[in-house]
This record gives sequence, C-alpha cells and structure tokens, in this order.
Amino acid sequence: MTLPMTVPAQGLPPRIRIHEVGPRDGLQNEKSTVPTEVKAEFVHRLAAAGLTTVETTSFVHPKWVPQLADAEALFPLVQDLAGDGVHLPVLVPNGRGLDRALALGAHRIAVFASATESFAKANLNRTVAESLAVFEPVVARAKAERAHVRGYLSMCFGDPWEGAVPVHQVVSVAKSLLDMGCDELSLGDTIGVATPGHVQALLAELNEEGVPTNTIGVHFHDTYGQALANTLAALQHGVTTVDASAGGLGGCPYAKSATGNLATEDLVWMLQGLGIETGVDLGRLTATSAWMARHLGRPSPSRTVRALVPEAQSPQEQ
Ligand code: HMG
Ligand code: MG
Repeated sequence: MTLPMTVPAQGLPPRIRIHEVGPRDGLQNEKSTVPTEVKAEFVHRLAAAGLTTVETTSFVHPKWVPQLADAEALFPLVQDLAGDGVHLPVLVPNGRGLDRALALGAHRIAVFASATESFAKANLNRTVAESLAVFEPVVARAKAERAHVRGYLSMCFGDPWEGAVPVHQVVSVAKSLLDMGCDELSLGDTIGVATPGHVQALLAELNEEGVPTNTIGVHFHDTYGQALANTLAALQHGVTTVDASAGGLGGCPYAKSATGNLATEDLVWMLQGLGIETGVDLGRLTATSAWMARHLGRPSPSRTVRALVPEAQSPQEQ
C-alpha cells in the first residue's frame, strides 16, 4: 500500500495546515552543513509536494548555528515561491536578526522563547524575562512592517535541566508572547516527553486563561514515540496548525536530549487515513526525504519514508 485507507473519526477538524520546519529545525542540527543550493532545492521540492508553509532558515548568530550561516545566500534563492503563495517564515532572535530578515523581504518571522530559564540561557544567552524584553520591540517593528509573527515557546512539557515544567509557567510566557503582538504560538515539546493527557491539560489551561485555540500550533518531537499520539490529542482539542519536519529530521543544538521532530510523512499518513485534508502529495514528499537522506548519508528517521522507500534505510552519500 502506498496510501492508508480513509476512515474518518468523529470530532476532528476537516483540514490541517502543516507548518514544515525541515529546512530550519531539521538542518540546523545536522553534523554536516548542507550546501546552499541543496537547501534551496529542498525548499522547492517541499513546496512542490504541496506544503504551503516552509520554514526556511534562521537569522541567528552564525557562530551559534553554523549550519544556517548561509541564510543571506539561501533566502533569495527561494523567493520565487513567495510569488506562488508559499509562506517562507524565518527565525529571528533579536533586532539584528530582524534587520537581516527584513532587508531580504521576509514577510513571516518567528521569535523563539522558552518556558524555562535553563533553556533560555542555553539557547539565547538570556533569562526568560530578558529574552521577552528583546522580543517586544522586534515583534512591534515586524508588525509595523506588516509581517506575520509566530512565537515559539520551547520546553512546554519538560526540560532536560529542570525536569517537569508547571503548566502555569508555560501559560505565563505564552500570554506574554500574544500580548506583545504575536499572531500565533507554537507550543514546543522540544525534548519529546509529552503525553496526550498533558497536551490536553495545557491546551485547556491556555483556553481558560483566554488564549484561543485558533492561535495555537503544536510542535512535537518523537523522542519517546509520542508525537503522533500527542498530535491526535491536540486535533481532538481543535488545534489546526501542526509543525512537522520532512523525514523526521531535527532536534535542537542547545538541548542535547532533543531528537527528531515529528516526521511530516508520518503525520500525513495519519491525517490521510482520517480523511483530514492537508494538500500534501505523500509520494512526492517521501521521494524528497529519501533524496535528502542520500545527501546526508544516513537513513531517514521517518517510519513512513522507510516503509515507502526501502532504499532510504541505507542511503549512500552522493
Ligand atoms: P549573544 O552572544 O548574547 O549576542 O548571543 P550579543 O547580543 O551579545 O551580540 C554579540 C555579537 O553577535 C554582536 O557582534 C552582535 O552584533 C552579533 P559584535 O558587536 O560583537 O561584532 N549578533 C548577531 N549577528 C548576526 N545575527 C544576529 C545577531 N545577534 C547578535 N541575529 C544570540 C545572543 C541570540 C544572538 C545567540 O544566542 C543566538 O544566535 N542564538 C540562537 C540559537 C538558536 O538558533 N538555537 C536554535 C533554535 S531552535 C529552538 O529554539 C526550538 C524550536 O525549534 C522549537 C522546538 O523545537 O521546541 C524553535
Ligand atoms: Mg523542533
């Protein structure tokens, strides 16, 4: 079988927007740096597979994330897609990053906060409060430039240094991001420790505190094999934006226990089986991830890619 049978389940949204993070969250964590032209082809192939939001790169300090140091070279190579209506968000950590992104005509930016102090320090060299103070003028300026702003929130379900993360701590930072003008949130399970009840408890608490479900996206990692179960729990709650990474690439260079993101193919297989529209062509997507696995010289972590393209289990480096 190359596609699942479609058998809808009750109480789920008819359509989901997939926020593809492979070129950014996936490639930022690779040991080898992928050539800029290969990244540009990756973004084009993902768009051709039907993904309408492809997070492209980060305008962070090149010493902190050397794999994305070519942001200035890459972004213009994919601009033709913006003309075709594909959204190409980029991460910015501060005013300097926003300057760089706006200079190239970026229309969608993302700031990235942490629910915990330890990760804020490791990832941004700032406390949570200091990083929010940095983001506030960044978001204001981006909005003044009519950019769409996403607010990532990492370590929402657990932290490698601090352990359990209280729900109220997550809600507090989430509200700060929305109050400063972020259009949407992405709730990150950066180290993949969430379970479905925890996901629903956090979503319920956010609603209770006035955060509407339509401003919330979810961003799961599959470290403990929970990413799809957690996604289904979020869909049952009414969430319609789901982050995923083609081929399951990714992790976070500043959180050692973070392994791959939810694989886009695994997500699409489940959604297709449930009859939920995504606009994604699974065959073109798996072919793209198998091609990227060859470039990286290692197997694709996605179960669906390995099932549909057996050679992706032992790719030869090109
Ligand atoms: P810092 O060292 O504190 O920076 O790093 P600073 O403000 O002290 O500035 C030091 C120098 O860096 C200055 O240059 C700045 O101009 C320069 P100098 O005056 O010394 O010549 N600088 C920059 N250069 C280029 N672009 C910039 C920039 N900013 C400052 N944007 C900083 C602070 C935020 C810059 C650094 O910590 C950084 O770049 N961090 C990014 C780390 C990162 O990208 N991590 C991965 C993100 S993944 C994630 O967060 C999780 C997520 O995927 C969701 C999930 O999975 O859960 C979103
Ligand atoms: Mg991630």
